[in-house]
Amino acid sequence: MSGRPTGRRVLEARDLARHYKVGGGMFSGAATLKALDGVGFSLTAGKTLAVVGESGCGKSTLARLVTLIERPTAGNLVLGDADVTEAKGETQRKLRQSVQIVFQDPYGSLNPRQKIGTILEEPLLINRKMSAAERREAAEAMMARVGLRPEHYERYPHMFSGGQRQRIAIARALMLNPDIVVLDEPVSALDVSIQAQVLNLLADLQEEFDLAYLFISHDLSVVRHIADEVIVMYLGRPVEQGPRDAVFARPRHPYTQALLSATPKADPTQKRQRIKLSGELPSPLNPPGGCAFNPRCPYANERCRTERPAMLAAEGVTVACHAVEEGRLPEETAV
Ligand SMILES: Nc1ncnc2c1ncn2[C@@H]1O[C@H](COP(=O)(O)OP(=O)(O)O)[C@@H](O)[C@H]1O
Ligand SMILES: [Mg+2]
Repeated sequence: MSGRPTGRRVLEARDLARHYKVGGGMFSGAATLKALDGVGFSLTAGKTLAVVGESGCGKSTLARLVTLIERPTAGNLVLGDADVTEAKGETQRKLRQSVQIVFQDPYGSLNPRQKIGTILEEPLLINRKMSAAERREAAEAMMARVGLRPEHYERYPHMFSGGQRQRIAIARALMLNPDIVVLDEPVSALDVSIQAQVLNLLADLQEEFDLAYLFISHDLSVVRHIADEVIVMYLGRPVEQGPRDAVFARPRHPYTQALLSATPKADPTQKRQRIKLSGELPSPLNPPGGCAFNPRCPYANERCRTERPAMLAAEGVTVACHAVEEGRLPEETAV
């Protein structure tokens, strides 16, 4: 918003992890599921960090940590200048307001018994000292901003299409003037024709309010258009991380290459080597040793099966891959 310097670092996540105890029935002991196992990044005002990876790689878990819905098992989360990892009470409540979330399911995320006006004013009612008239004014202004009409104020969620509901969810997320919006697959449930409209709206709102986005998606073709930075995740860990242009122009990790070669090309004349993802996605309850991607990787060798690769810097991006580090990937892997 006006008055806030642009390019500010608004969030820093260091080595965030979230483990769950699961099982522990009559015949089995409890096991640890490492939904998220060490991811670090920062978010900048006005910029979008995209997190991509297949279902189950820990994207929504990360979203719950960043929005303070859940606490990390390990690692740190710094919002502005405040380490929120252990924040409680009033401090936590204030910090929560600065990070808002939009969920994938536009049908499940709005209370069906509340009118749109009520949905939008609720955050103000709880967190701001405003008169009813002021709240209504703020809600109507935000409705206009996201492309809803004044008469929608009195309507219920079931009267709207999926795309309009996502506009309502976005409006609600912005009512408290957050610094950060976590978008967890915000267009994945929408028709392709509607996706572009919602993505354009998000881009306009980002510019107007200088928002930092954490944009979660399993779809690289969406990410390609909106991301400034990208993290590719596999089974709870980042495998490749860097500026959008660098990652898309020359994906280094075999998993990134495989994801990209499954995505329609912007320029179909450009040549590309097809790397197919073979094998099943392993269970995060029992991940493969060494590099978790090794059973599906065409370049895996003994080291890959036994030693977990660290994230290492390589020309502006970081990659966790022994084959990249050792230079044993084929020369022409540009996709
Ligand atoms: N509360 C929970 N208890 C146990 N396991 C969980 C819980 N939440 C998520 N998981 C597991 O963590 C992994 C990552 O889930 P999630 O973050 O939802 O992935 P994504 O959003 O990328 O599909 C999955 O294997 C999922 O089953
Ligand atoms: Mg998810």
